[in-house]
Amino acid sequence: MLASKYSYDDCLRNSVKSAWTIEDCFQRRDFDFARLFLPERIAGVEGIAYLDAAAKHKLNQIRANSYFHLFAFVEEYIVPMVLDHARRHVFGDELRLRFLLRFAEEETKHQEMLRRAMAQFEAGFGVPCGVIPGREEVARVVLGKSPLAALLLTSMIEWFTQLHYLEHVRERNELDPLVRDILRFHWIDEAQHAKADTLLIAEVAAGMSATDRERAVDELLELGGAVDGLLASQVDLDIESLATATGRRFTDVETEEIRTHQRRAYRWTFLVSGLEHPEFAATVGELTPAGARKIGATAKALSGV
Ligand SMILES: [Fe+2]
Ligand SMILES: [Fe+2]
Repeated sequence: MLASKYSYDDCLRNSVKSAWTIEDCFQRRDFDFARLFLPERIAGVEGIAYLDAAAKHKLNQIRANSYFHLFAFVEEYIVPMVLDHARRHVFGDELRLRFLLRFAEEETKHQEMLRRAMAQFEAGFGVPCGVIPGREEVARVVLGKSPLAALLLTSMIEWFTQLHYLEHVRERNELDPLVRDILRFHWIDEAQHAKADTLLIAEVAAGMSATDRERAVDELLELGGAVDGLLASQVDLDIESLATATGRRFTDVETEEIRTHQRRAYRWTFLVSGLEHPEFAATVGELTPAGARKIGATAKALSGV
């Protein structure tokens, strides 16, 4: 089993060794709005025909603000979910319990860090940028699915968080240093969380039939469809923010062009980069080969639009 690559002992040791505070990340710095905030692979603004360089620069920054928001948003359900798993064997393995309590605490720290980033962004950007509401409702929907489906969603998110930083941000010196540090500090913790997800998935799946495991993948894909709807709402809010920030009124044709590019970029960022992540794909492949094929087909379909 993949989970045998990992242990709570290792996760705990790494978590203690690399512990950081929000102050360590911010160091009293502000964002530098003269710089780009996100790599093009995430922002996806370059191909938009109707925007000049200054508008693309603003949209890149708007996307960083919504990136912060969406992480704080999706992580809302992870805290109660991890606490439930901690309680499940509360008198069992002490290393497991200690790590899962740190895991939950780290996620609350991330939410505080990301909200602070958004407050600083709003103060510096100059115009308010809309973000989608309803995080508690989304948390209820996710936690209403089977424990395995919620863990699979978490695993997908925690692997793509790492991929975004390692593959697309770490080497990009031209990006704003504070944004890069926010993503770096987040990655430091997520590196342990993603491994713990794999351990939790193995625990939960051990007693499940092949049919129930495949059913959990179906639930994950339903949640993915709901996430896709939320992303579409965020795209429309971003277009409004961009219109305010640039003082432009976009025609229907221009709006559609921006929407098409941005939907593709959001889908890659929050769905495809996770569904296709090799570690995530391998975990699902071990659980349910039929489910893994469905995930592969979904990722392919989402990449094409
Ligand atoms: Fe996090
Ligand atoms: Fe996490």
